[in-house]
Amino acid sequence: MNKLNPVILCVDDEPGNLNLLERTLGSSGYQVVKAAAGQEALDIIASRTVDLVLTDVMMPGIDGFETCRRIKGDERYRHIPVVMITALGSKTDRIRGIEAGADEFLAKPYDHGEVLARVKMLLRTKQLDEMLDDSYDNIQHLTSFGSRIMTSFRPSGFDLMAQIDSLANEIIRKEADSAGRPSTVLVRIINNNAVAWYCYVYDSEGLERSGIDLHTPLSIPATDSTACFCINPVSLPHFRPLVESLASKGIAVENMTCYLSDMASVFALNYGREVTTFDATVLESLAMQTLFFMHLAIQIRESDEAFAYTVHSLARASEVNDEDTGDHVLRVGEYCAIVAQKLGLAEQWVKSIKLQASLHDVGKVHIPSDILRKTGELDPEEWNIMRRHTVKGATIIGVHPKFSIARQIALSHHERWDGSGYPFGYSGDRIPLEGRIMNIADQYDALRNARVYKPALDHATTVRIITEGDGRTVPQHFDPQVLKAFVATAHLFEEVYETFTAIPRLTGPECTNPASCSHLDEHLPAILF
Ligand code: C2E
Ligand code: SIN
Ligand code: SIN
Ligand code: FE
Repeated sequence: MNKLNPVILCVDDEPGNLNLLERTLGSSGYQVVKAAAGQEALDIIASRTVDLVLTDVMMPGIDGFETCRRIKGDERYRHIPVVMITALGSKTDRIRGIEAGADEFLAKPYDHGEVLARVKMLLRTKQLDEMLDDSYDNIQHLTSFGSRIMTSFRPSGFDLMAQIDSLANEIIRKEADSAGRPSTVLVRIINNNAVAWYCYVYDSEGLERSGIDLHTPLSIPATDSTACFCINPVSLPHFRPLVESLASKGIAVENMTCYLSDMASVFALNYGREVTTFDATVLESLAMQTLFFMHLAIQIRESDEAFAYTVHSLARASEVNDEDTGDHVLRVGEYCAIVAQKLGLAEQWVKSIKLQASLHDVGKVHIPSDILRKTGELDPEEWNIMRRHTVKGATIIGVHPKFSIARQIALSHHERWDGSGYPFGYSGDRIPLEGRIMNIADQYDALRNARVYKPALDHATTVRIITEGDGRTVPQHFDPQVLKAFVATAHLFEEVYETFTAIPRLTGPECTNPASCSHLDEHLPAILF
Protein backbone atom coordinates (compact mmCIF):
# COMPACT_ATOMS: atom_id res chain seq x y z
CA MET A 1 0.00 0.00 0.00
CA ASN A 2 1.20 3.46 -0.81
CA LYS A 3 1.45 4.91 2.65
CA LEU A 4 1.58 8.56 1.73
CA ASN A 5 -0.99 8.81 -1.05
CA PRO A 6 -3.42 5.90 -0.93
CA VAL A 7 -5.32 5.39 -4.17
CA ILE A 8 -9.13 5.55 -3.91
CA LEU A 9 -11.21 4.34 -6.83
CA CYS A 10 -14.57 6.09 -6.97
CA VAL A 11 -17.29 4.50 -9.11
CA ASP A 12 -20.46 6.38 -10.04
CA ASP A 13 -22.28 7.11 -13.29
CA GLU A 14 -23.06 10.67 -12.19
CA PRO A 15 -20.08 12.95 -12.90
CA GLY A 16 -21.29 15.42 -10.29
CA ASN A 17 -20.97 12.86 -7.50
CA LEU A 18 -17.53 11.79 -8.71
CA ASN A 19 -16.28 15.35 -8.72
CA LEU A 20 -17.62 15.94 -5.24
CA LEU A 21 -15.80 12.82 -3.91
CA GLU A 22 -12.63 13.84 -5.72
CA ARG A 23 -12.65 17.23 -4.03
CA THR A 24 -13.35 15.79 -0.60
CA LEU A 25 -10.73 13.04 -0.78
CA GLY A 26 -8.19 14.93 -2.86
CA SER A 27 -8.04 17.74 -0.31
CA SER A 28 -7.03 15.15 2.33
CA GLY A 29 -4.11 13.86 0.32
CA TYR A 30 -5.69 10.82 -1.33
CA GLN A 31 -5.17 10.03 -4.99
CA VAL A 32 -8.55 9.67 -6.65
CA VAL A 33 -9.18 7.53 -9.72
CA LYS A 34 -12.62 7.76 -11.27
CA ALA A 35 -14.75 5.19 -13.10
CA ALA A 36 -18.21 5.82 -14.58
CA ALA A 37 -19.27 2.15 -14.69
CA GLY A 38 -18.70 -1.21 -12.98
CA GLN A 39 -16.75 -2.76 -15.84
CA GLU A 40 -14.47 0.25 -16.09
CA ALA A 41 -13.79 -0.04 -12.35
CA LEU A 42 -12.88 -3.73 -12.69
CA ASP A 43 -10.51 -2.92 -15.58
CA ILE A 44 -8.78 -0.26 -13.50
CA ILE A 45 -8.33 -2.65 -10.55
CA ALA A 46 -6.76 -5.18 -12.89
CA SER A 47 -4.30 -2.67 -14.28
CA ARG A 48 -3.03 -0.63 -11.32
CA THR A 49 -2.74 -0.52 -7.56
CA VAL A 50 -5.95 0.50 -5.83
CA ASP A 51 -6.13 0.78 -2.05
CA LEU A 52 -9.87 1.28 -1.58
CA VAL A 53 -13.06 1.33 -3.69
CA LEU A 54 -16.04 3.63 -3.17
CA THR A 55 -18.94 2.53 -5.36
CA ASP A 56 -22.47 3.69 -6.02
CA VAL A 57 -25.16 1.02 -6.15
CA MET A 58 -27.26 1.98 -9.14
CA MET A 59 -25.30 2.01 -12.37
CA PRO A 60 -26.08 0.87 -15.91
CA GLY A 61 -24.42 -2.45 -16.86
CA ILE A 62 -22.66 -4.11 -13.94
CA ASP A 63 -24.18 -2.49 -10.86
CA GLY A 64 -22.44 -1.73 -7.57
CA PHE A 65 -23.40 -5.03 -5.93
CA GLU A 66 -22.00 -7.08 -8.81
CA THR A 67 -18.85 -4.95 -8.96
CA CYS A 68 -18.31 -5.60 -5.26
CA ARG A 69 -19.06 -9.31 -5.64
CA ARG A 70 -16.45 -9.64 -8.40
CA ILE A 71 -13.79 -7.80 -6.43
CA LYS A 72 -14.42 -9.93 -3.36
CA GLY A 73 -14.59 -13.11 -5.46
CA ASP A 74 -11.09 -12.63 -6.83
CA GLU A 75 -8.19 -13.91 -4.75
CA ARG A 76 -5.98 -11.08 -6.04
CA TYR A 77 -8.31 -8.23 -5.08
CA ARG A 78 -10.42 -9.40 -2.16
CA HIS A 79 -8.19 -7.56 0.33
CA ILE A 80 -9.24 -4.19 -1.19
CA PRO A 81 -11.89 -2.59 1.05
CA VAL A 82 -15.15 -1.74 -0.74
CA VAL A 83 -17.46 0.99 0.51
CA MET A 84 -21.01 0.96 -0.90
CA ILE A 85 -22.86 4.22 -1.33
CA THR A 86 -26.51 3.55 -0.64
CA ALA A 87 -29.62 5.67 -0.53
CA LEU A 88 -30.25 7.02 2.94
CA GLY A 89 -32.19 4.52 5.00
CA SER A 90 -32.37 1.76 2.38
CA LYS A 91 -32.28 -1.42 4.44
CA THR A 92 -32.57 -3.69 1.38
CA ASP A 93 -29.51 -2.13 -0.21
CA ARG A 94 -27.49 -2.67 2.95
CA ILE A 95 -28.48 -6.31 3.13
CA ARG A 96 -27.61 -6.88 -0.52
CA GLY A 97 -24.35 -5.01 0.02
CA ILE A 98 -23.42 -7.24 2.96
CA GLU A 99 -24.18 -10.29 0.83
CA ALA A 100 -21.92 -8.93 -1.91
CA GLY A 101 -19.05 -8.57 0.62
CA ALA A 102 -19.02 -4.80 1.16
CA ASP A 103 -16.84 -3.64 4.05
CA GLU A 104 -18.70 -0.39 4.84
CA PHE A 105 -21.67 1.75 3.81
CA LEU A 106 -22.07 5.44 3.22
CA ALA A 107 -25.41 7.10 2.80
CA LYS A 108 -26.14 9.74 0.19
CA PRO A 109 -26.08 12.69 0.48
CA TYR A 110 -22.47 12.54 1.68
CA ASP A 111 -21.25 14.00 4.88
CA HIS A 112 -17.73 15.28 4.20
CA GLY A 113 -16.41 14.28 7.62
CA GLU A 114 -18.01 10.87 7.60
CA VAL A 115 -16.54 9.97 4.18
CA LEU A 116 -13.06 10.83 5.39
CA ALA A 117 -13.45 9.03 8.71
CA ARG A 118 -14.69 5.79 7.10
CA VAL A 119 -11.94 5.82 4.47
CA LYS A 120 -9.24 6.49 7.02
CA MET A 121 -10.42 3.71 9.32
CA LEU A 122 -10.66 1.17 6.50
CA LEU A 123 -7.22 2.02 5.16
CA ARG A 124 -5.72 1.70 8.63
CA THR A 125 -7.33 -1.72 9.04
CA LYS A 126 -6.01 -2.75 5.64
CA GLN A 127 -2.52 -1.60 6.58
CA LEU A 128 -2.55 -3.58 9.82
CA ASP A 129 -3.81 -6.57 7.91
CA GLU A 130 -0.92 -6.27 5.46
CA MET A 131 1.56 -5.97 8.30
CA LEU A 132 0.16 -9.12 9.80
CA ASP A 133 0.61 -10.88 6.46
CA ASP A 134 4.18 -9.58 6.27
CA SER A 135 4.82 -10.89 9.78
CA TYR A 136 3.68 -14.38 8.86
CA ASP A 137 5.78 -14.11 5.77
CA ASN A 138 8.79 -13.04 7.84
CA ILE A 139 8.41 -15.89 10.30
CA GLN A 140 8.37 -18.26 7.36
CA HIS A 141 11.54 -16.62 5.98
CA LEU A 142 13.31 -16.84 9.34
CA THR A 143 12.70 -20.53 9.63
CA SER A 144 13.65 -21.40 6.08
CA PHE A 145 16.72 -19.14 6.14
CA GLY A 146 17.97 -20.78 9.34
CA SER A 147 17.48 -24.27 8.05
CA ARG A 148 19.14 -23.42 4.76
CA ILE A 149 22.29 -22.14 6.49
CA MET A 150 22.29 -25.16 8.73
CA THR A 151 22.01 -27.72 5.95
CA SER A 152 24.64 -26.04 3.79
CA PHE A 153 26.99 -25.33 6.70
CA ARG A 154 30.57 -26.41 6.01
CA PRO A 155 33.06 -24.96 8.47
CA SER A 156 36.06 -25.31 6.18
CA GLY A 157 34.38 -23.58 3.27
CA PHE A 158 32.45 -20.94 5.22
CA ASP A 159 32.23 -17.78 3.19
CA LEU A 160 30.97 -14.81 5.21
CA MET A 161 30.39 -12.61 2.17
CA ALA A 162 28.29 -15.29 0.49
CA GLN A 163 26.24 -15.62 3.68
CA ILE A 164 25.75 -11.86 3.87
CA ASP A 165 24.64 -11.90 0.23
CA SER A 166 22.00 -14.46 1.03
CA LEU A 167 20.94 -12.50 4.10
CA ALA A 168 20.45 -9.40 1.93
CA ASN A 169 18.62 -11.46 -0.66
CA GLU A 170 16.32 -12.74 2.06
CA ILE A 171 15.16 -9.34 3.27
CA ILE A 172 15.33 -7.05 0.26
CA ARG A 173 12.24 -6.14 -1.78
CA LYS A 174 11.89 -7.89 -5.11
CA GLU A 175 9.55 -6.87 -7.90
CA ALA A 176 7.08 -9.61 -7.13
CA ASP A 177 6.91 -8.81 -3.41
CA SER A 178 4.59 -6.46 -1.68
CA ALA A 179 6.09 -3.08 -0.94
CA GLY A 180 6.49 -3.99 2.75
CA ARG A 181 10.17 -4.85 2.44
CA PRO A 182 13.23 -2.59 2.41
CA SER A 183 14.38 -1.37 -0.99
CA THR A 184 18.05 -1.14 -0.01
CA VAL A 185 20.30 -3.11 2.34
CA LEU A 186 23.59 -1.77 3.65
CA VAL A 187 26.23 -3.88 5.37
CA ARG A 188 29.22 -2.68 7.34
CA ILE A 189 31.98 -5.22 7.92
CA ILE A 190 34.93 -4.63 10.19
CA ASN A 191 37.92 -6.83 9.57
CA ASN A 192 41.28 -6.12 11.23
CA ASN A 193 40.16 -2.55 11.95
CA ALA A 194 39.38 -1.93 8.29
CA VAL A 195 35.80 -0.85 7.68
CA ALA A 196 34.05 -1.83 4.46
CA TRP A 197 30.52 -0.81 3.45
CA TYR A 198 28.42 -2.67 0.90
CA CYS A 199 25.16 -1.60 -0.67
CA TYR A 200 22.61 -4.07 -2.02
CA VAL A 201 19.80 -3.31 -4.45
CA TYR A 202 17.54 -5.64 -6.39
CA ASP A 203 16.94 -4.96 -10.06
CA SER A 204 15.98 -6.89 -13.19
CA GLU A 205 19.35 -8.66 -13.04
CA GLY A 206 18.67 -9.83 -9.50
CA LEU A 207 20.54 -8.93 -6.32
CA GLU A 208 23.43 -6.56 -6.86
CA ARG A 209 26.16 -5.78 -4.33
CA SER A 210 28.48 -2.82 -4.67
CA GLY A 211 31.09 -1.31 -2.42
CA ILE A 212 30.15 2.12 -1.14
CA ASP A 213 32.46 4.76 0.32
CA LEU A 214 30.89 5.91 3.56
CA HIS A 215 33.40 7.55 5.84
CA THR A 216 30.84 7.72 8.58
CA PRO A 217 31.97 7.03 12.07
CA LEU A 218 29.00 5.31 13.68
CA SER A 219 29.06 6.49 17.25
CA ILE A 220 26.50 4.07 18.52
CA PRO A 221 26.57 3.07 22.17
CA ALA A 222 28.13 -0.38 22.45
CA THR A 223 25.19 -1.60 24.50
CA ASP A 224 22.78 -1.15 21.59
CA SER A 225 23.20 -4.36 19.72
CA THR A 226 20.01 -3.83 17.82
CA ALA A 227 17.97 -0.84 16.94
CA CYS A 228 14.81 -0.03 15.08
CA PHE A 229 14.17 3.46 13.84
CA CYS A 230 11.88 5.47 11.69
CA ILE A 231 14.37 8.04 10.64
CA ASN A 232 13.60 11.37 12.16
CA PRO A 233 16.67 13.60 12.13
CA VAL A 234 15.65 15.32 15.35
CA SER A 235 15.37 12.17 17.42
CA LEU A 236 18.31 10.32 15.93
CA PRO A 237 21.53 12.21 16.41
CA HIS A 238 23.58 9.00 16.21
CA PHE A 239 22.40 8.20 12.75
CA ARG A 240 22.37 11.68 11.31
CA PRO A 241 25.94 11.44 9.89
CA LEU A 242 25.05 8.16 8.21
CA VAL A 243 21.81 9.54 6.80
CA GLU A 244 23.60 12.65 5.54
CA SER A 245 26.39 10.61 4.06
CA LEU A 246 23.87 8.39 2.27
CA ALA A 247 22.01 11.45 1.00
CA SER A 248 25.25 12.67 -0.57
CA LYS A 249 25.39 9.34 -2.44
CA GLY A 250 21.84 9.84 -3.69
CA ILE A 251 20.21 7.52 -1.18
CA ALA A 252 17.44 9.28 0.72
CA VAL A 253 16.53 7.49 3.92
CA GLU A 254 12.82 7.46 4.78
CA ASN A 255 12.96 4.77 7.40
CA MET A 256 15.39 2.14 8.57
CA THR A 257 15.99 -0.80 10.83
CA CYS A 258 19.44 -1.94 11.75
CA TYR A 259 21.41 -4.63 13.54
CA LEU A 260 24.72 -3.49 14.98
CA SER A 261 27.62 -5.62 16.11
CA ASP A 262 31.41 -5.42 16.34
CA MET A 263 32.05 -7.41 13.23
CA ALA A 264 29.09 -6.92 10.94
CA SER A 265 26.21 -4.45 10.98
CA VAL A 266 23.18 -4.59 8.72
CA PHE A 267 20.90 -1.67 7.79
CA ALA A 268 17.61 -2.18 6.00
CA LEU A 269 16.43 1.04 4.38
CA ASN A 270 13.15 2.32 3.04
CA TYR A 271 10.48 -0.18 3.77
CA GLY A 272 7.41 0.71 1.73
CA ARG A 273 5.48 1.33 4.94
CA GLU A 274 6.05 2.24 8.57
CA VAL A 275 8.77 0.20 10.25
CA THR A 276 8.04 -1.51 13.53
CA THR A 277 10.09 -3.14 16.26
CA PHE A 278 8.99 -6.42 14.73
CA ASP A 279 10.94 -5.56 11.57
CA ALA A 280 14.02 -4.89 13.67
CA THR A 281 13.60 -8.19 15.48
CA VAL A 282 13.38 -10.05 12.19
CA LEU A 283 16.54 -8.35 10.95
CA GLU A 284 18.30 -9.13 14.21
CA SER A 285 17.37 -12.81 14.02
CA LEU A 286 18.60 -13.15 10.46
CA ALA A 287 21.85 -11.33 11.18
CA MET A 288 22.48 -13.29 14.35
CA GLN A 289 21.94 -16.60 12.61
CA THR A 290 24.52 -15.64 10.01
CA LEU A 291 27.05 -14.43 12.55
CA PHE A 292 26.46 -17.41 14.81
CA PHE A 293 27.43 -19.75 12.00
CA MET A 294 30.45 -17.61 11.19
CA HIS A 295 31.68 -17.79 14.79
CA LEU A 296 30.99 -21.50 14.83
CA ALA A 297 32.99 -21.97 11.61
CA ILE A 298 35.92 -20.02 13.06
CA GLN A 299 35.89 -22.05 16.27
CA ILE A 300 35.65 -25.35 14.45
CA ARG A 301 38.51 -24.32 12.19
CA GLU A 302 40.62 -23.30 15.16
CA SER A 303 39.98 -26.52 17.02
CA ASP A 304 40.70 -28.51 13.83
CA GLU A 305 44.00 -26.67 13.55
CA ALA A 306 44.86 -27.31 17.18
CA PHE A 307 43.98 -30.97 16.70
CA ALA A 308 46.18 -31.23 13.61
CA TYR A 309 48.99 -29.45 15.42
CA THR A 310 48.84 -31.89 18.30
CA VAL A 311 48.79 -34.87 15.98
CA HIS A 312 51.81 -33.56 14.09
CA SER A 313 53.70 -32.87 17.31
CA LEU A 314 53.19 -36.44 18.39
CA ALA A 315 54.21 -37.65 14.94
CA ARG A 316 57.43 -35.64 15.07
CA ALA A 317 58.30 -37.39 18.31
CA SER A 318 58.69 -40.63 16.35
CA GLU A 319 61.28 -39.08 14.09
CA VAL A 320 63.89 -38.01 16.60
CA ASN A 321 66.28 -40.54 15.12
CA ASP A 322 65.78 -39.50 11.52
CA GLU A 323 67.75 -36.90 9.65
CA ASP A 324 64.66 -35.75 7.76
CA THR A 325 62.75 -34.19 10.63
CA GLY A 326 59.22 -33.02 10.21
CA ASP A 327 58.40 -33.33 6.57
CA HIS A 328 58.24 -37.10 6.06
CA VAL A 329 55.27 -37.38 8.42
CA LEU A 330 53.44 -34.65 6.53
CA ARG A 331 54.33 -35.87 3.03
CA VAL A 332 52.97 -39.36 3.67
CA GLY A 333 49.63 -37.79 4.58
CA GLU A 334 49.61 -36.00 1.23
CA TYR A 335 50.35 -39.23 -0.65
CA CYS A 336 47.64 -41.13 1.23
CA ALA A 337 45.12 -38.40 0.43
CA ILE A 338 46.08 -38.53 -3.26
CA VAL A 339 45.53 -42.30 -3.43
CA ALA A 340 42.35 -42.19 -1.32
CA GLN A 341 40.91 -39.51 -3.56
CA LYS A 342 41.83 -41.48 -6.66
CA LEU A 343 40.01 -44.48 -5.16
CA GLY A 344 36.91 -42.29 -4.82
CA LEU A 345 36.74 -42.30 -1.02
CA ALA A 346 34.59 -39.80 0.86
CA GLU A 347 35.95 -36.31 1.36
CA GLN A 348 35.90 -36.61 5.15
CA TRP A 349 37.80 -39.89 5.04
CA VAL A 350 40.40 -38.38 2.72
CA LYS A 351 40.79 -35.50 5.15
CA SER A 352 41.18 -37.89 8.08
CA ILE A 353 43.78 -40.13 6.49
CA LYS A 354 45.76 -37.10 5.37
CA LEU A 355 46.17 -36.02 8.97
CA GLN A 356 46.28 -39.37 10.75
CA ALA A 357 48.79 -41.04 8.40
CA SER A 358 51.42 -38.90 10.08
CA LEU A 359 51.20 -41.15 13.14
CA HIS A 360 52.11 -44.38 11.29
CA ASP A 361 55.57 -44.75 12.88
CA VAL A 362 54.81 -43.24 16.29
CA GLY A 363 55.68 -46.67 17.80
CA LYS A 364 59.32 -46.07 16.85
CA VAL A 365 59.71 -44.05 20.06
CA HIS A 366 59.93 -47.47 21.76
CA ILE A 367 62.64 -48.78 19.41
CA PRO A 368 66.18 -48.33 20.70
CA SER A 369 67.98 -45.67 18.73
CA ASP A 370 71.03 -47.87 18.12
CA ILE A 371 68.77 -50.05 15.98
CA LEU A 372 67.12 -47.11 14.23
CA ARG A 373 70.49 -45.47 13.56
CA LYS A 374 72.29 -48.62 12.49
CA THR A 375 73.95 -47.99 9.13
CA GLY A 376 74.09 -51.63 8.15
CA GLU A 377 71.45 -54.33 7.75
CA LEU A 378 69.45 -55.42 10.80
CA ASP A 379 70.07 -58.87 12.26
CA PRO A 380 67.09 -61.17 13.02
CA GLU A 381 66.83 -60.12 16.69
CA GLU A 382 66.94 -56.44 15.71
CA TRP A 383 64.19 -57.10 13.14
CA ASN A 384 62.04 -58.70 15.84
CA ILE A 385 62.29 -55.53 17.86
CA MET A 386 61.87 -53.25 14.84
CA ARG A 387 58.62 -55.01 13.83
CA ARG A 388 57.08 -54.13 17.16
CA HIS A 389 56.85 -50.45 16.20
CA THR A 390 53.49 -51.32 14.60
CA VAL A 391 51.81 -52.73 17.71
CA LYS A 392 53.55 -50.16 19.94
CA GLY A 393 52.18 -47.38 17.76
CA ALA A 394 48.61 -48.70 17.96
CA THR A 395 48.97 -48.85 21.75
CA ILE A 396 50.15 -45.25 21.93
CA ILE A 397 47.32 -44.06 19.70
CA GLY A 398 44.73 -45.92 21.74
CA VAL A 399 41.13 -46.71 20.91
CA HIS A 400 39.50 -43.27 20.60
CA PRO A 401 37.10 -43.48 17.62
CA LYS A 402 38.44 -40.21 16.23
CA PHE A 403 41.82 -41.95 15.82
CA SER A 404 40.64 -45.22 14.35
CA ILE A 405 42.34 -44.59 10.99
CA ALA A 406 45.62 -43.73 12.73
CA ARG A 407 45.42 -46.86 14.88
CA GLN A 408 44.70 -49.13 11.91
CA ILE A 409 47.53 -47.54 9.92
CA ALA A 410 50.08 -47.93 12.72
CA LEU A 411 49.12 -51.54 13.13
CA SER A 412 48.85 -52.57 9.49
CA HIS A 413 51.15 -50.36 7.39
CA HIS A 414 53.74 -53.13 7.06
CA GLU A 415 51.28 -55.88 6.17
CA ARG A 416 51.55 -57.07 2.56
CA TRP A 417 48.78 -58.07 0.14
CA ASP A 418 50.40 -61.51 -0.34
CA GLY A 419 50.53 -62.16 3.41
CA SER A 420 54.31 -61.80 3.80
CA GLY A 421 54.19 -58.68 5.99
CA TYR A 422 54.03 -58.01 9.74
CA PRO A 423 52.90 -57.93 12.56
CA PHE A 424 50.08 -60.43 11.79
CA GLY A 425 50.86 -61.66 8.26
CA TYR A 426 47.35 -60.79 7.15
CA SER A 427 46.63 -60.86 3.41
CA GLY A 428 44.22 -59.27 0.93
CA ASP A 429 41.40 -57.18 2.26
CA ARG A 430 41.84 -58.55 5.75
CA ILE A 431 44.38 -55.71 5.88
CA PRO A 432 42.50 -52.45 6.53
CA LEU A 433 42.35 -50.25 3.43
CA GLU A 434 44.11 -47.39 5.22
CA GLY A 435 47.04 -49.73 5.93
CA ARG A 436 47.23 -50.83 2.29
CA ILE A 437 47.27 -47.19 1.17
CA MET A 438 49.86 -46.19 3.78
CA ASN A 439 52.11 -49.08 2.78
CA ILE A 440 52.69 -47.70 -0.70
CA ALA A 441 52.95 -44.08 0.50
CA ASP A 442 55.54 -45.06 3.13
CA GLN A 443 57.66 -46.98 0.67
CA TYR A 444 57.61 -44.22 -1.93
CA ASP A 445 58.87 -41.70 0.62
CA ALA A 446 61.42 -44.06 2.26
CA LEU A 447 62.88 -44.85 -1.16
CA ARG A 448 63.07 -41.20 -2.28
CA ASN A 449 64.73 -40.13 0.95
CA ALA A 450 68.16 -40.96 2.25
CA ARG A 451 68.06 -43.17 5.34
CA VAL A 452 71.00 -44.00 7.59
CA TYR A 453 70.97 -47.42 5.97
CA LYS A 454 70.32 -46.39 2.33
CA PRO A 455 70.87 -43.54 -0.15
CA ALA A 456 68.14 -41.40 -1.73
CA LEU A 457 66.66 -42.56 -5.04
CA ASP A 458 65.10 -40.54 -7.86
CA HIS A 459 61.42 -40.61 -8.79
CA ALA A 460 61.73 -42.91 -11.83
CA THR A 461 63.83 -45.49 -9.93
CA THR A 462 61.40 -45.42 -7.02
CA VAL A 463 58.38 -45.96 -9.29
CA ARG A 464 60.23 -48.84 -10.99
CA ILE A 465 60.98 -50.54 -7.63
CA ILE A 466 57.34 -50.26 -6.60
CA THR A 467 55.83 -51.36 -9.93
CA GLU A 468 58.43 -53.96 -11.01
CA GLY A 469 60.17 -54.91 -7.76
CA ASP A 470 63.81 -55.02 -6.66
CA GLY A 471 63.88 -58.32 -4.82
CA ARG A 472 63.13 -56.84 -1.40
CA THR A 473 59.94 -55.27 -2.70
CA VAL A 474 57.70 -57.08 -5.25
CA PRO A 475 54.43 -55.86 -6.84
CA GLN A 476 52.54 -58.71 -5.12
CA HIS A 477 53.09 -56.84 -1.85
CA PHE A 478 50.54 -54.22 -2.87
CA ASP A 479 46.78 -54.19 -3.19
CA PRO A 480 46.33 -54.18 -7.01
CA GLN A 481 43.74 -51.34 -6.81
CA VAL A 482 46.02 -49.24 -4.65
CA LEU A 483 48.98 -49.96 -6.95
CA LYS A 484 46.89 -48.90 -9.94
CA ALA A 485 45.89 -45.66 -8.19
CA PHE A 486 49.57 -45.05 -7.35
CA VAL A 487 50.64 -45.51 -10.99
CA ALA A 488 47.91 -43.11 -12.15
CA THR A 489 48.94 -40.44 -9.65
CA ALA A 490 52.72 -40.99 -9.41
CA HIS A 491 53.37 -37.56 -10.96
CA LEU A 492 51.54 -36.02 -8.00
CA PHE A 493 53.73 -37.99 -5.58
CA GLU A 494 56.76 -36.51 -7.31
CA GLU A 495 55.28 -33.04 -7.03
CA VAL A 496 54.64 -33.48 -3.31
CA TYR A 497 58.13 -34.83 -2.72
CA GLU A 498 59.79 -32.01 -4.65
CA THR A 499 57.75 -29.09 -3.38
CA PHE A 500 56.07 -29.92 -0.11
CA THR A 501 57.40 -28.11 2.91
CA ALA A 502 54.93 -27.67 5.67
CA ILE A 503 56.88 -25.34 7.88
CA PRO A 504 58.89 -22.58 6.27
CA ARG A 505 62.35 -23.04 7.73
CA LEU A 506 64.09 -19.88 8.70
CA THR A 507 67.81 -19.90 8.18
CA GLY A 508 70.57 -17.35 8.45
CA PRO A 509 70.17 -13.77 9.65
CA GLU A 510 66.35 -13.59 9.57
CA CYS A 511 66.21 -16.41 12.09
CA THR A 512 66.45 -14.30 15.22
CA ASN A 513 63.48 -15.23 17.31
CA PRO A 514 63.80 -18.63 18.98
CA ALA A 515 60.17 -18.43 20.13
CA SER A 516 58.84 -18.62 16.58
CA CYS A 517 61.58 -20.68 14.97
CA SER A 518 61.05 -24.23 13.80
CA HIS A 519 64.60 -25.40 14.46
CA LEU A 520 64.89 -24.13 17.96
CA ASP A 521 67.72 -26.54 18.85
CA GLU A 522 70.15 -24.47 16.74
CA HIS A 523 69.63 -21.57 19.09
CA LEU A 524 70.66 -23.53 22.14
CA PRO A 525 74.22 -24.09 23.33
CA ALA A 526 75.68 -27.31 21.94
CA ILE A 527 76.47 -28.50 25.46
CA LEU A 528 72.83 -29.29 26.08
CA PHE A 529 72.99 -32.21 23.62
P1 C2E B 1 61.64 -46.83 6.91
O1 C2E B 1 63.07 -46.49 6.72
O2 C2E B 1 60.71 -45.71 7.12
O3 C2E B 1 61.17 -47.67 5.69
C1 C2E B 1 59.85 -47.97 5.47
C2 C2E B 1 59.65 -49.02 4.43
O4 C2E B 1 60.15 -48.57 3.15
C3 C2E B 1 60.39 -50.30 4.70
O5 C2E B 1 59.66 -51.11 5.55
C4 C2E B 1 60.46 -50.89 3.30
O6 C2E B 1 59.21 -51.47 2.96
C5 C2E B 1 60.64 -49.68 2.42
N1 C2E B 1 62.06 -49.47 2.13
C6 C2E B 1 62.91 -48.68 2.78
N2 C2E B 1 64.14 -48.75 2.20
C7 C2E B 1 64.05 -49.61 1.18
C8 C2E B 1 64.98 -50.10 0.20
O7 C2E B 1 66.13 -49.75 0.19
N3 C2E B 1 64.50 -50.99 -0.73
C9 C2E B 1 63.22 -51.39 -0.71
N4 C2E B 1 62.79 -52.25 -1.63
N5 C2E B 1 62.29 -50.95 0.21
C10 C2E B 1 62.73 -50.08 1.13
P2 C2E B 1 60.44 -52.26 6.36
O8 C2E B 1 61.34 -52.99 5.48
O9 C2E B 1 59.40 -53.04 7.08
O10 C2E B 1 61.26 -51.43 7.38
C11 C2E B 1 60.67 -50.81 8.47
C12 C2E B 1 61.64 -49.92 9.17
O11 C2E B 1 62.73 -50.68 9.65
C13 C2E B 1 62.26 -48.87 8.28
O12 C2E B 1 61.45 -47.75 8.15
C14 C2E B 1 63.55 -48.56 9.04
O13 C2E B 1 63.30 -47.73 10.13
C15 C2E B 1 63.94 -49.94 9.56
N6 C2E B 1 64.88 -50.61 8.65
C16 C2E B 1 64.59 -51.40 7.60
N7 C2E B 1 65.72 -51.86 7.01
C17 C2E B 1 66.74 -51.35 7.74
C18 C2E B 1 68.20 -51.48 7.64
O14 C2E B 1 68.74 -52.14 6.77
N8 C2E B 1 68.92 -50.81 8.57
C19 C2E B 1 68.31 -50.06 9.55
N9 C2E B 1 69.09 -49.41 10.42
N10 C2E B 1 66.98 -49.93 9.67
C20 C2E B 1 66.23 -50.59 8.77
C1 SIN C 1 58.64 -54.92 24.14
O1 SIN C 1 59.10 -54.71 23.00
O2 SIN C 1 59.16 -54.38 25.12
C2 SIN C 1 57.38 -55.76 24.36
C3 SIN C 1 56.80 -56.33 23.10
C4 SIN C 1 55.38 -55.97 22.82
O3 SIN C 1 54.68 -55.39 23.67
O4 SIN C 1 54.88 -56.18 21.69
C1 SIN D 1 43.13 -54.92 15.91
O1 SIN D 1 43.04 -53.69 15.88
O2 SIN D 1 43.32 -55.48 17.00
C2 SIN D 1 43.00 -55.75 14.64
C3 SIN D 1 43.76 -55.13 13.52
C4 SIN D 1 43.51 -55.78 12.18
O3 SIN D 1 42.42 -56.35 11.90
O4 SIN D 1 44.41 -55.71 11.32
FE1 FE E 1 56.74 -48.19 9.79
